[in-house]
Amino acid sequence: MNLFDRDKKFIWHPFTQMKVADAPIHIESGRGAMLFGSDGKSYIDAISSWWVNIHGHANAYIASAIAEQATKLEQVIFAGFTHSPAINLAERLVNLLGSPFSKVFFSDNGSTCVEVAVKMALQYWYNQGVTEKTILIAFENAYHGDTFGAMSVSGKSTFNKPFQKHLFEVVHIPLPTDENLDQVVAQLRDVGKEQNVAAFIFEPLIQGAAGMLMYKPAHLNKLIAVAKENSILCIADEVMTGFGRTGKIFAIDYLEEKPDIICLSKGITGGFMPLGVTVCTETIFQAFYSDEKQKAFFHGHSYTANPLACAAANASLDLLIKDNCQHQIQLIAASHATFALRIRNHKSVKNIRQQGTVLAFDIDTQEDTSYFNSISKEMYTYFISKGVLLRPLGNVVYIMPPYCITQQELEAVYVVIEDFLATLKFR
Ligand SMILES: Cc1ncc(COP(=O)(O)O)c(C=O)c1O
Repeated sequence: MNLFDRDKKFIWHPFTQMKVADAPIHIESGRGAMLFGSDGKSYIDAISSWWVNIHGHANAYIASAIAEQATKLEQVIFAGFTHSPAINLAERLVNLLGSPFSKVFFSDNGSTCVEVAVKMALQYWYNQGVTEKTILIAFENAYHGDTFGAMSVSGKSTFNKPFQKHLFEVVHIPLPTDENLDQVVAQLRDVGKEQNVAAFIFEPLIQGAAGMLMYKPAHLNKLIAVAKENSILCIADEVMTGFGRTGKIFAIDYLEEKPDIICLSKGITGGFMPLGVTVCTETIFQAFYSDEKQKAFFHGHSYTANPLACAAANASLDLLIKDNCQHQIQLIAASHATFALRIRNHKSVKNIRQQGTVLAFDIDTQEDTSYFNSISKEMYTYFISKGVLLRPLGNVVYIMPPYCITQQELEAVYVVIEDFLATLKFR
């Protein structure tokens, strides 16, 4: 059997209708922004492989940090034991996030760090005897992951429809705009008045999976302030926006009002190892800090704070805070802005938007904007045939490259998009 037959026989791929899926592309190696297939073809990874590879592929510095750690300590139970890679990482994250963040809780992916945040918020109230605060508020169209808590706080969608009956109670509010801000604030105030809301969870500045929907920091500031006035904890899900994506290290760096809990994953290890962290304030932590054993946070995964993952994260942070990486982030943002001007007047391009290294626009089709818009597959296939990995979300095209991408590679991505837009003219 060849590789594809063996893949088809034994593997069930994520987010894939296996019956109609094309054979997956077999990748043998990567370097920087490039992926190299076993058939000799190469691809520019313009989406950082599901938004994780902030420093590109096979980064030698991160690889050697993992290798070095692997010969010392690959894993140790994290209850009753600790290790330096985790201590160093926690200290660095708390310092980087700044006030009011104080404690780091480790898990192993984006969904689990959200799950932890939601449980932390609910138990925060429970531990203090406030049993009525059980409801959560989230944005419509949110995506916070695929586990049950994460699905509950996500918007209702085809992804989670089969499980709706099993999801807990969440009030969804619209994403704020200049037009609806007053109504959204009023809605949050109304829900908050009931005094039964435990927490408000949001993806700050960009709703990723919803189609790179962007909203203003000033609007989020306002909503966080209203939540706080009503004793509602605020959870920022920075799984996608963290580690430089939005132009600053964290999206919350654009806010004056700070959340109580922040979720980080994806770019945290530069795409080398699965890792999630949930960082909270001292106030949250103190609600669990007690002589009563049952007030402890009874949550933990086997691979909690895996030393290899922590070593990768420390190495990734070393690279991220270097001047040349910060410069690259600004350069990508500037290039995106120039490219946006190039295509903004194309008749099929709508709602072009940018936040830092993320550029997105809608292709105007006669269909609704949705993940299942039929143009998605057509665009994906076209881009792949031209050696560019872009994975449109329905009719939304977005670019989210590794920060190490060269200007030449970025220009090649832009040209492929322009070429695709040119094909639309003739329909
Ligand atoms: C904002 C946000 N939260 C959570 C998740 C879930 O992360 P993971 O896929 O690692 O479970 C994602 C994934 O795309 C995300 O974008």
